[in-house]
Amino acid sequence: MTSSTTETVAVPATSTKLAAGQKHRVLSGMQPSADSLHLGNYIGALVNWVRMQDEYDAIFFIPDLHAITVPQDPAELAQRTRVTAAQYIAGGVDVDKCTLFVQSQVPEHAQLAWVLNCITGFGEASRMTQFKDKAQKQGTDQASVGLFTYPILQAADILLYQPHGVPVGEDQRQHVELSRDLANRFNSRFGETFQVPEAFIQKESAKIYDLQNPTAKMSKSAESPAGLINLLDDPKTTAKRIKSAVTDTETEIRFDREAKPGISNLLTIYSTISGQPVEKIVADYEGKMYGHLKVDLAELVTNHLAPIRERAHELLADPAELDRLLAHGADKARGIAAATLADVYAKVGFLPYGGAR
Ligand code: TYM
Repeated sequence: MTSSTTETVAVPATSTKLAAGQKHRVLSGMQPSADSLHLGNYIGALVNWVRMQDEYDAIFFIPDLHAITVPQDPAELAQRTRVTAAQYIAGGVDVDKCTLFVQSQVPEHAQLAWVLNCITGFGEASRMTQFKDKAQKQGTDQASVGLFTYPILQAADILLYQPHGVPVGEDQRQHVELSRDLANRFNSRFGETFQVPEAFIQKESAKIYDLQNPTAKMSKSAESPAGLINLLDDPKTTAKRIKSAVTDTETEIRFDREAKPGISNLLTIYSTISGQPVEKIVADYEGKMYGHLKVDLAELVTNHLAPIRERAHELLADPAELDRLLAHGADKARGIAAATLADVYAKVGFLPYGGAR
C-alpha cells in the first residue's frame, strides 16, 4: 500500500519539544468485542498504526475493560481478546517496535479512571453522544453505569501514557476532546501533570462504510453481517459479500460519496488496498460494469487478507506464546502508567503507602 492513499494523520499540531533521539508518543486501541476486526478497523486504524510505529513511540492496547460495559460471555471475551491481539500482530504491529498490551493487565487504568470520574461533571458525561446513542438503543435501564463512564476510562487510558497523539476515527473525536478537557482541568487544579493529547483523526478516505447500507459506517454492531468484511472470514464469504454490495441503478463507475455511496465505498476500499489513486481506478474501469469492479475487488481483498488471516491463526495456535508477548507488553506499559498514577495520587493528597516519600 502506498502512503499517498492511506496517509491518514498529520504531524502533531502543537509540536512538543523533544530531547535528542526521543520520539513523539501515540496511543490507540480497538475493542475486543467481536470474533474478528472488520475492514473499517483495518483500513481506518490498523494500517495507520503500522505506518506510525517507526516514526513514533507507539503504544497499542486491547481495551477489554471497555468491552464489559455491555454484557459479554466470559470465555468468549477471553478468546476475543487473544483474537484481537493476534490480528494486531498479523496486520503488522511489531511487538519489538512498540508496546502492545491488554488493558485489564495494567490496573492503573481503572485506578486513574476513578480519580478522573471525580473531576468530571455529570452533565459533561451525559453529553457524550456514543452513550446517548447506545442508551437510546438499549433503554436507560439496560445501559450500565460503566457504559456511561466509558469515555472517562478512555481518558485514563490516554492520559496515563502522556501521548502527544491519539490516532482514531471521527467517531472517537469527542472522547479525545474529553480527555483533553480533563487533562487541562487536572493540571490547573493540581499542577502540571498530564500532557494534553491531540486527536489524530483519520482522513475521510480511511472511513469504510457498510456494504449493505453504505451511508452508515462499517460496524460490528450492524444489524446484518452481510455488510461487513471481517479480517478472519473465509475468502468465500468475503467475496460473496463484496459481490452482493449495494450499488445504485446507474452503470457509471465514478466517485461521488453523496450520489453514489455504494460505488464510492468500493472505490475507497480498492484504492487503499491496491495503493492506487481513486482517479486511476475510475479511468481503468471506464465503460465497464459494476460487476467487473466487484469481481476484481473481491479478488484483491481476499488475496490481501489471506496472509493476515493465516498469520493470525498461527499466533492463535500457540496461546501461551501470545499470552507471554502480552504480559511482556503489560510490564512495559506498567513502567509508564505506574509513574503517572503515583504522581496523580500524590497530587490529589493520597497518603503514600508505607510512609512519606
Ligand atoms: P472501536 O473499537 O470502536 O474502533 C477502533 C478504531 O477503528 C475505527 N473505526 C473505523 N474506521 C474506519 N471505518 C470504519 N467503519 C470504522 N469503524 C471503526 C475507530 O474510529 C477507532 O479508531 N473507544 C474506542 C476504544 C478505546 C480507545 C481508547 C481508543 C478505548 N480506549 C484510548 C483510543 C485511545 C473504541 O470503541 O474503538
